[in-house]
Amino acid sequence: MAAVSLSNIVKRFDRHTVVHGIDLAIADGEFVVLVGPSGCGKSTTLRMIAGLEDASDGEIRIGERVVNRLEPKDRNIAMVFQNYAIYPHMTVHKNIAFGLRMAKLPRAEEDKRVREAAAVLGLTDLLARTPAQLSGGQRQRVAIGRAMVRNPAVFLFDEPLSNLDAQLRAQMRLEIKKLHQTLGTTIVYVTHDQIEAMTLADRIVIMRDGRIQQIGTPTEVYRDPVNVFVARFIGSPSMNLVPGGVDATRSTLRLDGIERELALPGFQRAAGKRVLLGIRPDDLRVVPGEAAAELALEARVTVVEPLGPDTLVYAQCGGHELVAKADARTPPRRGDIVRLVAQPETLHLFDASSETAIPR
Ligand SMILES: Nc1ncnc2c1ncn2[C@@H]1O[C@H](COP(=O)(O)OP(=O)(O)OP(=O)(O)O)[C@@H](O)[C@H]1O
Ligand SMILES: [Mg+2]
Repeated sequence: MAAVSLSNIVKRFDRHTVVHGIDLAIADGEFVVLVGPSGCGKSTTLRMIAGLEDASDGEIRIGERVVNRLEPKDRNIAMVFQNYAIYPHMTVHKNIAFGLRMAKLPRAEEDKRVREAAAVLGLTDLLARTPAQLSGGQRQRVAIGRAMVRNPAVFLFDEPLSNLDAQLRAQMRLEIKKLHQTLGTTIVYVTHDQIEAMTLADRIVIMRDGRIQQIGTPTEVYRDPVNVFVARFIGSPSMNLVPGGVDATRSTLRLDGIERELALPGFQRAAGKRVLLGIRPDDLRVVPGEAAAELALEARVTVVEPLGPDTLVYAQCGGHELVAKADARTPPRRGDIVRLVAQPETLHLFDASSETAIPR
């Protein structure tokens, strides 16, 4: 096992810079997820850690060693890709043992490692099969097994689940989390799926255009997003954002298109500013009748989406479409006028021009 650190890592392809000086310290045994939209530099960053791409600038350490000049095979890492290559003509046993090809171990030792990995991954009974006789999830586990037998100091995963259907994804997600709990190996995991990031990570790194926007635990990035980009990216459905202006003296908020002024406790630093008010759909409840609340908005229901435990309600309010949650047993109907209520402590405020969070 090993810590991983990136100091001022830059990647240029020709004259085009795609990673702009990333600093990231990953603790020994930590599960860190890099997340962000397509093209933001996640795979490039992972491939620089793996040694599949050279860093144009900066320093990469794995454990105590600076690895910039080391070949991938000398970095003590193992990587699992989205398009994992398992060999169709080889058995599961041979496929997993393929990860040890370089190590040239005695047969007995090789067999022992393969069986240990297979036991952890629930593949013991499938060792004699070929990939054609496996499900998608089982194949993915073979690819992970091949990485595991090398006892790497660091596992690197690049979207390993994106070829699987939704149910298998959820199942494999759980298995990868258990694997981490069992092995305790440092993991750097790339995905563009924020739910995968939230459920797997000790810490999430949110990237945009080759830059880190925020690093934090899932709870931190959900509760305290540093800017509008992170606020929108983390959480599903996305945070509601409504433009408005804060009164210079009285700390009240007037949302664009909405008559009534809203009390705005805290947020002293927002006085006199143009802002975006952020409310997570989870924090915005549809309340029947007259509810006493600090922040209540009247809205007309446009779409109702039952999800089972909750019901999502889309509603129009002063020209803004808001998403809220309603009790599944008493959902409103399309066309209803409802009250949307949020608790003041759940509100987020962002500076409208810089889009950075305004602290309370
Ligand atoms: N070999 C290359 N030559 C030139 N540009 C590249 C090369 N590889 C990646 N890029 C560019 O670098 C940027 C980052 O790519 P990268 O693959 O790291 O993104 P990503 O975050 O992994 O995206 P995705 O979620 O789509 O996999 C993109 O603009 C991409 O076009
Ligand atoms: Mg990628």
